[in-house]
Amino acid sequence: MSILVTGAAGYIGSHTCLELLNAGFDVVAFDNFSNSKMESLIRVEKLAARSLVFKQGDVRDRAFLQDLFSKHNITAVIHFAGHKAVGESIRTPLTYYDNNVSGSIALAEVMSEFSVKRLVFSSSATVYDAQNNLQIREDSLLRPINPYGRSKLMIEQIYQDLAASDTQWKIATLRYFNPVGAHESGMIGEDPNGIPNNLMPYISQVAVGRLSELSVFGSDYPTIDGTGVRDYIHVVDLALGHLAALQALKSCSGLITVNLGTGKGCSVLELIRAFEHATGRVIPYHIVERRPGDLATCYADPSLAESLLGWRAKFDINTMCQDAWRWQSKNPQGYGNVSNY
Ligand code: NAD
Ligand code: UFG
Repeated sequence: MSILVTGAAGYIGSHTCLELLNAGFDVVAFDNFSNSKMESLIRVEKLAARSLVFKQGDVRDRAFLQDLFSKHNITAVIHFAGHKAVGESIRTPLTYYDNNVSGSIALAEVMSEFSVKRLVFSSSATVYDAQNNLQIREDSLLRPINPYGRSKLMIEQIYQDLAASDTQWKIATLRYFNPVGAHESGMIGEDPNGIPNNLMPYISQVAVGRLSELSVFGSDYPTIDGTGVRDYIHVVDLALGHLAALQALKSCSGLITVNLGTGKGCSVLELIRAFEHATGRVIPYHIVERRPGDLATCYADPSLAESLLGWRAKFDINTMCQDAWRWQSKNPQGYGNVSNY
């Protein structure tokens, strides 16, 4: 009995594969390497001291999926495969709808064909309306403002219709807040292509000397210090949330939608200070204009995850910074420099 993981070599997929192996699951994993490298899964196997089954392939390729399902005894699927860059989704929306939405449909069709109807799907806090101000609950207003976010909401709705059409389906859509950090070993972590869009990898690359200075996007938001507030969640906590969802689906029916966040907001300046404190590095920064499309504040009400999944985040900001830095400092070029191992 195996768990199939799509997009397994990526940032969250690799950490989840490791936790699945550590918990004793057999894992069948695939990725098309559009945004990752095999090295991440080689390191996962070293860390777990166990192997997984890996195939290179595309989630939109039904024949590839059928071959996987016919050869392995797959009982549930965790679906990470997809594109995730907001700016790119605005420039090339069809690529995003094709990869994210068509891929998610192809996967569900083949699962149905093989009567595998337990699915955990990566959604995002980006599906929520920017006007939600207090802690965001799962029933808060939804209104994504870019093709990436809309692709996630479309998939949620497609899966909702699917679960309503056939009561055998058990689906968890998990809305992640801001995943950061890395496994405590420093062997696996986030390896963005090019200049990072996201705050934590940007800070880490300034700290390691790959980038000279951080631009802080706006200091006039209605927040504690004027900079944007987010709910940063350690990627290992997030990975464990998937194991909790798999378990919870055994006794749930239909589709459940759950926020995965810590419930705590942290501003950009607070994160810079926490990183400096955790690592002893100084992060040079300057304040620039707001980044278009950014919200002032976005953090989760994580209480449903606790009551439905029995899960809560346990790592604090200090650990997130220490672990992000351990990964970055041991792997200054990400997986591009594999000579350390
Ligand atoms: P990632 O890019 O590191 O991982 C995604 C993986 O999917 C990559 O390895 C990529 O090569 C693979 N992939 C993409 N298209 C594929 C396809 N058609 N077939 C097979 N493999 C394919 O991203 P991540 O941060 O690990 O995110 C995983 C999931 O979580 C994504 O669906 C993303 O949208 C979602 N998510 C991420 C964040 C975040 O901030 N990291 C936040 C919310 C939601
Ligand atoms: N920020 C900076 N400078 C940077 C990068 C970011 O000041 O160089 C600020 C942003 O303005 C924001 C905060 O840091 O206030 C966090 O920004 P990120 O880009 O790290 O994260 P976002 O909340 O904007 O978006 C991320 C993902 C989305 C996802 C969302 C919720 O990029 O895909 O979290 O999960 F939808």
